[in-house]
Amino acid sequence: MTAQLIDGNALSKQLRSEVATRAQALKAKGVTPGLAVVLVGDNQASQVYVRNKVKACEDAGLHSVLEKYEASMTEADLLARVEALNNDPSIHGILVQLPLPAHIDAQKVIEAISPAKDVDGFHIASAGALMTGMPGFWPCTPYGCMKMLESINYDLKGKHAVVIGRSNIVGKPMALMLLQKNATVTICHSGTKDLKAMTLQADVIVAAVGKRNVLTADMVKPGAVVLDVGMNRNDEGKLCGDVDFEGVKQVASHITPVPGGVGPMTITMLLVNTLEAAERASN
Ligand code: GUN
Repeated sequence: MTAQLIDGNALSKQLRSEVATRAQALKAKGVTPGLAVVLVGDNQASQVYVRNKVKACEDAGLHSVLEKYEASMTEADLLARVEALNNDPSIHGILVQLPLPAHIDAQKVIEAISPAKDVDGFHIASAGALMTGMPGFWPCTPYGCMKMLESINYDLKGKHAVVIGRSNIVGKPMALMLLQKNATVTICHSGTKDLKAMTLQADVIVAAVGKRNVLTADMVKPGAVVLDVGMNRNDEGKLCGDVDFEGVKQVASHITPVPGGVGPMTITMLLVNTLEAAERASN
């Protein structure tokens, strides 16, 4: 068997065009959805990420503001900026790019963002809303994974989903989203004794560890759906995921490639969340 690809670029294109249409409708009512992206310091990868986020906003007709600050910015000054953005009616979503310089308490900054503008879904109120099934913003990467499953009309009810990785940004919220769709969910992590025994039982596997070849063909049940959240470099310096793509695609029914899989979906769901924030604010 050769797995069918779940194309994150194609799905993103479709979802972003839906965002653009909804943004137009809001603008007609006098509200332009606005995202503020705050970058502190000169982390190279972060510079690329925020540029891509701002560009994606522009392309979808969303207003965006990029605020760049020196790495020496104090925590108090950053908290004051977040507070100003909380009170700015032209801004519906606030994203403080992580990582922050070591002298700034990132969690404190995240908690300072108004939950109504927390389009990253990192605030404790957002995490609690997800956990309890209340309205709130879902973290973009696992939310994008759910959209990918939706795009292949995958019914999670009664299926066994195995999530590899337990980060607050991907693994834990991913597990809660799968649970909400009535999957039986197992979270595996560095302390898991026999990962292969777990993944071999899975109908859906989400690999979100940040390490190459965490999932190989011998660990996958034939016909399983495999989502690869990893972003790593191989020996030749080429972008690769956590999954041994060439091997696993021979066993899985569906698989996401890296690049062009989950990656583009993260920014797409940021646009969706920002639009949603603006729609909620305008109602
Ligand atoms: N750094 C890496 N990914 C992300 C993300 O999704 N949001 C924020 N705020 N920072 C990040």
